[in-house]
Amino acid sequence: MGRALASTLLKAGHEVTVWNRTPGKAGDLSARGAREAPSPEEAIEASDLTIACLLDDASVRETLAPAIGKLTGRTLVNLTSGSARQARELAGWLEKHGVRFLAGGILAVPPAVGTDEAVILYSGPRDLFDRVAPALAPLARPHWVGEDHGYAALYDMGALSGMYGMIAGVSHAAALVHAEGGDVETFTREVLQPWMEQMLPLMFADVDPDESNAEMQATGLETMISTSEEAGVPGDLAGHLRASLWEMRRATA
Ligand SMILES: NC(=O)c1ccc[n+]([C@@H]2O[C@H](COP(=O)([O-])OP(=O)(O)OC[C@H]3O[C@@H](n4cnc5c(N)ncnc54)[C@H](OP(=O)(O)O)[C@@H]3O)[C@@H](O)[C@H]2O)c1
Repeated sequence: MGRALASTLLKAGHEVTVWNRTPGKAGDLSARGAREAPSPEEAIEASDLTIACLLDDASVRETLAPAIGKLTGRTLVNLTSGSARQARELAGWLEKHGVRFLAGGILAVPPAVGTDEAVILYSGPRDLFDRVAPALAPLARPHWVGEDHGYAALYDMGALSGMYGMIAGVSHAAALVHAEGGDVETFTREVLQPWMEQMLPLMFADVDPDESNAEMQATGLETMISTSEEAGVPGDLAGHLRASLWEMRRATA
């Protein structure tokens, strides 16, 4: 992801300095004009704006701790995935060191960076976002979600929950069909994909609850669980939905 971000910034005409823990991973970035810094300190010193995109919160802390003095008075944008609490704690630590900070969450895979599909969520001070958004805009549509530094991570993880929920559903459907000897590829192409495309807009529409009432859906989930059991496929997914549905019914009763 770091390479995709740096490549897009270069393409947009920015001067770019890169650092990676393991040297030699810059690919063609150097030939295209990026300077490879030998340490995080030297990468930070190269400009007023530093973008971090590492594995996780721990790797960001580990990398920035020895270089923190260099960040004082500069701006850090952290595009590393993490939790809302980690982002808030990082913000507190950076504030103590006089670092201007925006937290971010990337809603894109590396090849989509720099395209119209890509979105990056940001949270932190609005005035700071307004100042740096033009520099960040080539990466992805910048979308500010609030002053609270935790919100970019929160919304990012919320969006990923939706995505992984879909992946879980599709994997379960394929496992069921496969377990009973069905042709997964035909099932996916002719039945599952069109059905999911039909259902997706309904997820966010104002649907009359009587059209597909909760009682009927709970019974349907029981059938999904028994179908899974018959096929020898774990019914955890439907079991989880049944529990959520009952919880929702209890809350709205
Ligand atoms: N790839 C995606 O589709 C995608 C999409 C959205 C968000 N993201 C987020 O973007 C971030 C980077 O993802 P990625 O795809 O680039 O992962 P990756 O290919 O596994 O790269 C991880 C990077 O973190 C560095 N790193 C790991 N531990 C470190 C440490 N302790 N100290 C310093 N550097 C360390 C690695 O350096 P070395 O080369 O030295 O190992 C490498 O540059 C993650 O937070 C991920 O969740 C990724």
